[in-house]
Amino acid sequence: MSYEDLFTQLKCHGQEHLIKYWPDISENEREQLAGELRKIDFVEMNEIFHRGMESSKVIAEKLDDDLKPIPQSHYEAVPSLSREKIEEYENIGFREISEGKVGVLLLAGGQATRLGFGHPKGMYNVGLPSHKTLFQIQAERIVRLQKIAEEKTGKEGKITWYIMTSEHTMAPTAEFFKDHSFFGLEEENIVFFEQGRLPCFDFNGKILLDEKYQLASAPDGNGGLYRALKTQGMLDDISRRGVEHLHAHSVDNILIKVADPVFIGYCLSRNADCAAKVVQKSSPSEAVGVVCRVNGHYKVVEYSELSDEAAERRNPDGRLTFSAGNICNHYFSSEFLKKISNFESKLKLHVAKKKIPYVDDNGVRKKPTEPNGIKMEKFIFDVFEFAEKFICLEVARDVEFSALKNADSAGKDCPLTARQDLLRLHRKYIREAGGIVKDDVDVEISPLLSYGGENIDDLVKNEVFTISPFHLKSMEESATNGVNGANGKH
Ligand code: UD1
Repeated sequence: MSYEDLFTQLKCHGQEHLIKYWPDISENEREQLAGELRKIDFVEMNEIFHRGMESSKVIAEKLDDDLKPIPQSHYEAVPSLSREKIEEYENIGFREISEGKVGVLLLAGGQATRLGFGHPKGMYNVGLPSHKTLFQIQAERIVRLQKIAEEKTGKEGKITWYIMTSEHTMAPTAEFFKDHSFFGLEEENIVFFEQGRLPCFDFNGKILLDEKYQLASAPDGNGGLYRALKTQGMLDDISRRGVEHLHAHSVDNILIKVADPVFIGYCLSRNADCAAKVVQKSSPSEAVGVVCRVNGHYKVVEYSELSDEAAERRNPDGRLTFSAGNICNHYFSSEFLKKISNFESKLKLHVAKKKIPYVDDNGVRKKPTEPNGIKMEKFIFDVFEFAEKFICLEVARDVEFSALKNADSAGKDCPLTARQDLLRLHRKYIREAGGIVKDDVDVEISPLLSYGGENIDDLVKNEVFTISPFHLKSMEESATNGVNGANGKH
């Protein structure tokens, strides 16, 4: 496309400044810029800017009057369920896994900025005795789950692992998996795809230039999942493989029960199209969003939108009324995901005013000291309101949730707490299986040996664990790499 054509097209949308530096840039840079511009739907971008600005004008009103907790009919709590009920759900989940109907949607497009790690967060090693990374832990949980499902049903089914990356995390993530031989999974069952980006705008709706030949842009948030599923061919892949249930979760929860058969079984038996796992808020002031109903629609309400009165309100049994803390852990039926793609472009935009580096009117790249524009994101949970049957499953925090967000200096949601929470849970599993382990002894149970505390009785019953740190491995692992627990025993 010639400069004149580009100019005419951009002028129609008030964005002709984007080629102001055309005469200054090289042929390659021109190609890069023209390529970027061709990919943009400017009508949609202008609409996005206006919708974003409108939504940012709405001052976070306290929503108390319209707010209702999730009705009991749509809510179950694992800690209150009988062993039989849990097994019933779990068996349904295993059946679906063995029939190849279960997939995992891993949200791994974030940039780990708060953690201060220059690589994708899944590559982080929190310092466990095994030194396994988050990706390896999750992969091995999938390996183990497939094995249990096969043992239980006699049928070998595979879990498809869809991994959403972003521009910066795609190449290093794919390379990391390859370098580690896909952690024992079959390459064909791991599908990487890339979320999109949205341009950054100044406050007047002009797209900012990051360089003379490059637009300023940012990942479109974890709600970018829905568009990426469609544009990257994932919905077709889901249909082709016959996957019917998708467990979506963040990359940073070290306790994540990947492809949790209990969650899958619960959702299927309740005929849900969309669901959220939640944990009870630890205190009224804990800064997590709560899953609730607003004017009859299921939503995640940000902590800032709850008044102190609502945050502190309690039921007669003493529980917080709005206690369903969102942990970025969701279920979607594949049918629901296919439907979402029809209204994805209407999803709420979350706007943040930011200091965005830009090329100024004189062609000089500036790093502003005050916010000069906006970045916009979509959030994964903003589709709850479109579900026909939305339900919640409360799970125990000490068993299922410990997020890695910050560096150790923050003192919470950091590598230290992730490590401690996992080791505490594994001590609990050992004690439940009849082993003896003191609180100051660190024993890590390999996910290849046990997904959720099962399969360790023969190894730990009446055993006293004294060596710390200690890695309790599966037989296969012990055969390939000895060290602690070389025989699966300490
Ligand atoms: C998220 C939840 C929040 C919940 C908290 C629990 C959302 C929008 N917010 O918040 O309600 O209380 O987890 O830990 O879900 N990601 C992408 N692409 C992006 C941005 C993020 O894939 O563009 C991924 C991240 O890699 C991560 C997950 O989404 O795996 C959550 O993102 P993060 O930014 O960590 O969300 P929080 O603010 O912690």
